[in-house]
Amino acid sequence: MFSRIAGTGSYLPSKVVTNHDLEKMVDTSNEWIIDRTGIKKRHIVGDNETTCDLAEKAARAAMEMAGKTAQDIDLVIVATTTPDLVFPSTACLLQRRLEIKGGGAAFDVQAVCTGFVYALGIADKFIQSGSHRCVLVIGAETMSRIVDWTDRNTCVLFGDGAGAVVLEASEEAGILSTHLHADGHYADLLKVDAGISKQPELLASTFIEMRGNDVFRVAVKTLGRIVDETLAHNQLEKSDINWLVPHQANIRIIKATAKKLKMSMDHVVVTVGEHGNTSGASIPLALDTAVRDGRIKRGEILLLEGFGGGFTWGSALIKF
Ligand code: ACO
Repeated sequence: MFSRIAGTGSYLPSKVVTNHDLEKMVDTSNEWIIDRTGIKKRHIVGDNETTCDLAEKAARAAMEMAGKTAQDIDLVIVATTTPDLVFPSTACLLQRRLEIKGGGAAFDVQAVCTGFVYALGIADKFIQSGSHRCVLVIGAETMSRIVDWTDRNTCVLFGDGAGAVVLEASEEAGILSTHLHADGHYADLLKVDAGISKQPELLASTFIEMRGNDVFRVAVKTLGRIVDETLAHNQLEKSDINWLVPHQANIRIIKATAKKLKMSMDHVVVTVGEHGNTSGASIPLALDTAVRDGRIKRGEILLLEGFGGGFTWGSALIKF
């Protein structure tokens, strides 16, 4: 039994913050941001908008494309680092919001920017095992809530959004393999250093801290390795990949991975310019964009890859 992507969806909140807006907030410039990251703008939630609101819109779009109703879904997995509440999980809130019947499973996955790849890998294994048949997999984030808008090193990078896929059991090949990894020794290079059980009194005033140069170096090296691992596992050549759908953090990291694959940028889905780094939402956002604009077609081979805090990293090879 395989799992196959039956539909995709995504959503970006309506409020836009451009690089020129940021020039008025911190000591930066449109040229610097575009040159170093490729980002032109980011979408930011309104005061009362939450991760679950974004997830709901992306999920509804994916279900519509897949031709599935709430009655069909028997598992909901939300990849997020910015859940609405400590608990219940965003997945449980979404299950209620979408009126998905109770009794199926619902849970969140936290692997920061690799969250969607982790969630997809888990969903694939549930379907392969025969325990579930139709899974809603969502990456949804409100990164703007954990960004220090006075820190030019980080505030220019992140944005909010959500992307979703519906995975269904199929006898035809869909997800060919997933590869999930982590190395907690790198925990201090990228973090929000407060939480529910550590420095809870600082939670509202603690934001993303990042050693950008170090993150960049490890990301480029690690993403190259995971491309090799994924291809070798499937006995495929670089030239067999039709589309690279990478985590959208920085155009320079994406270009380095494409170079490693000897892949023309014409076959790399790049959306980072339009929404910045939306963490766990970025891969399904890019996937949905390229499916809806007709670039990605049924039967093509896609390589999804992500890297993020933890560090965590992973990939999925998919026959779409
Ligand atoms: N505007 C203007 N100048 C800036 C800005 C800014 N927004 N941010 C930093 N600078 C300055 C720095 O202060 C530094 O100045 P100095 O030389 O006077 O000290 C100078 O620019 C160069 O800083 P670097 O950090 O060396 O710049 P770099 O070329 O490495 O680019 C960046 C920084 C974009 C953060 C890069 O390191 C990067 O993309 N790293 C990966 C980080 C990332 O993607 N994190 C997301 C989570 S992990 C993931 O998703 C992969």
